[in-house]
Amino acid sequence: MKTILTVAKELLTQGVREDSVVADFTMGNGSDTLYLSLLVPRGHVYAFDIQPQALENTRRRLEEHGALSNVSLILDSHHRLEEYIPGGIDAGMFNLGYLPHGDPGVTTRRETSLPAVRKAVERLNPGGVVVVVVYPGHEEGRLEGEALQEMAKGWDPGVYDATVFRIVNVPTCPYIVAVERRKP
Ligand SMILES: C[S@@+](CC[C@H](N)C(=O)[O-])C[C@H]1O[C@@H](n2cnc3c(N)ncnc32)[C@H](O)[C@@H]1O
Repeated sequence: MKTILTVAKELLTQGVREDSVVADFTMGNGSDTLYLSLLVPRGHVYAFDIQPQALENTRRRLEEHGALSNVSLILDSHHRLEEYIPGGIDAGMFNLGYLPHGDPGVTTRRETSLPAVRKAVERLNPGGVVVVVVYPGHEEGRLEGEALQEMAKGWDPGVYDATVFRIVNVPTCPYIVAVERRKP
């Protein structure tokens, strides 16, 4: 069966063209940033993280693949996205939680991740998708996921399709909340 991260990447590509503007709201070590950069060679990727080490690791990874020129690396919290992204986006990726092998104290938190997801969804161009990977195996991740699903229930079904992809027989497995803005 496909992994949750494979499904997340497939969902992300739906509304994306070579010249799309997209965002990685939790760059970490940059694997999603690299994936997005290669998807939009004539477009742009805005990538956010609050850890300087994440920017350094991502910069190195992108340079190794010749994929840095269409990426803005932003050392700031994703909930301040309007300071950096001037217009609409065709895709947005949130991989919540903390970096594997990193400091578990530096994790995404509801106070900032929920406003960030809401603002990202409001920025979606028609056909675009915001994908959020949630990690319910730790307490903040569980609460983040529950709050996120509550918020997603409120999005106008005439404008958005809000979906949860989840392995139901392992409750601690990561799962996806995806929101697509419908084409008119
Ligand atoms: C699970 S990791 C992301 C993994 C990453 N996508 C990759 O491919 O390596 C979550 C990241 O979110 C970052 N983060 C935590 N709070 C944040 C915030 N408010 N704004 C942006 N990034 C944040 C953490 O520093 C961490 O690097």
